[in-house]
Amino acid sequence: MSSVLKAVRGTRDLLPPETALWNHVETVARSVFARYGFGEIRTPVIEPTELFSRGVGEETDIVSKEMYTWEDRARAASEKAQSLTLRPENTAGVVRAYIEHKLGETGRLQKLCYIGPQFRRERPQKGRYRQFFQIGAEVIGPPSSGSESPLRDAEVLEMLATLLDELGIARASAENNYKGWKLALNSVGSSTDRPRYVAALREALAPVKDKLCPDNQRRAETNPLRVLDSKDENDQAIIDSLPKIVDYLDAESKQHFADVLAALDACGVPYTVNPRLVRGLDYYTRTAFEFTMETGLGTQNALLGGGRYDGLSETIGGPKAPGIGFAIGEDRLILTLQALAEEKQSAEADNHLHAHKLDAYIAPLGTEQNAAALALASTLRRAGLSVEVGDGTFKMKKAIPLADTLARHLIILGEDEAKAGEATVKTLATGEQVRLSSSELPKRLSSAKP
Ligand code: HAM
Repeated sequence: MSSVLKAVRGTRDLLPPETALWNHVETVARSVFARYGFGEIRTPVIEPTELFSRGVGEETDIVSKEMYTWEDRARAASEKAQSLTLRPENTAGVVRAYIEHKLGETGRLQKLCYIGPQFRRERPQKGRYRQFFQIGAEVIGPPSSGSESPLRDAEVLEMLATLLDELGIARASAENNYKGWKLALNSVGSSTDRPRYVAALREALAPVKDKLCPDNQRRAETNPLRVLDSKDENDQAIIDSLPKIVDYLDAESKQHFADVLAALDACGVPYTVNPRLVRGLDYYTRTAFEFTMETGLGTQNALLGGGRYDGLSETIGGPKAPGIGFAIGEDRLILTLQALAEEKQSAEADNHLHAHKLDAYIAPLGTEQNAAALALASTLRRAGLSVEVGDGTFKMKKAIPLADTLARHLIILGEDEAKAGEATVKTLATGEQVRLSSSELPKRLSSAKP
């Protein structure tokens, strides 16, 4: 016997009824995005490798170890093979599209949202997959469109608070033992602040480097900012003593950050400033943030992340186009909602996790009624009812329990009924049974909808 094929490690099949919860989350996200003036963008899953090495950064974990990259076959001997990559994130692709379609020339602020799969070759575990889904949004435009304004940072964060509220995920409070969502943010400085800070970090790390774990020793060399978000227990005291980026911000960046915080206060969005938050992608400038959540996520507790990327467009050859955005890990959002449903904290999620019963199950008595049964199913489905139709070879003994698990009504279609243009309808919860003409059926079943 040949061996059984399975989904690739780190990828998964999503099955009903869980997919109903995915659809619900996406519907709520689309509804929120529309109210904030976002339009959907769909970029390809395949991009030139260079987009990420330049945009996200050669030294980042994503680019240096996690991308699915291959040389595409050249079409002709004279052509060079192109290096292609399955997108590990969507911001670089959105900015590429912004440049390619000259969206900046409209002079208007672009508000773009997306939902789709991303690919990273990480070690799979709960909440961490090699194909995962992100729900994200980007606000980008020429400086004259106001794209640099701290108002945009606060608007994006307030939109996220609204989205989580509408999904029934509470913010951390005494009431939920501080287990709701938490927003942490920081300013990682402008493109001129950052090199000054990185130089200071290198200097401070040099004399203590040998005391750090091997991973942090490597980071101290290649990307010292990454040392700051290390979770290594033994290194924490040293990391806490390192210079803080706030002390290296210029007056403008400081004011920008203060304005973001003031706008969040005005909107009632709770946050904590975490001076060690730097995030793993090189394009960030000024505001960087993360929402974490304990419920359902274990160690992979970053529900979403984002920030400002004022220089990204220029890094990949475009015009000046400051921007800010975020991406929610949809897989993690679903895990959170499932855990909340289990804890009975989200009736909404619970509702979406259970298969809904159909309006009716039609049981033809004998295969000669199959065609009439299918015709009746067609009429009812066109009338907006959800219907399953059985096969006439099924005996009543089998049809009734099957109908009971699938539907709220059983419609029996025997020879007599078919001849009279009627059907027998049994309400499965009560056992009540009536004979109705086929034309009365849609109305009767519609009025019995829950
Ligand atoms: P990121 O922090 O790399 O940022 O990813 C955002 C979110 O995607 C994470 O917080 C997490 O929830 C989810 N995520 C990342 N990797 C995985 C994985 N292997 N399995 C499951 N979920 C994962 C970005 O991707 C930026 N593009 C966000 C952004 C948009 N910044 C500005 N605009």
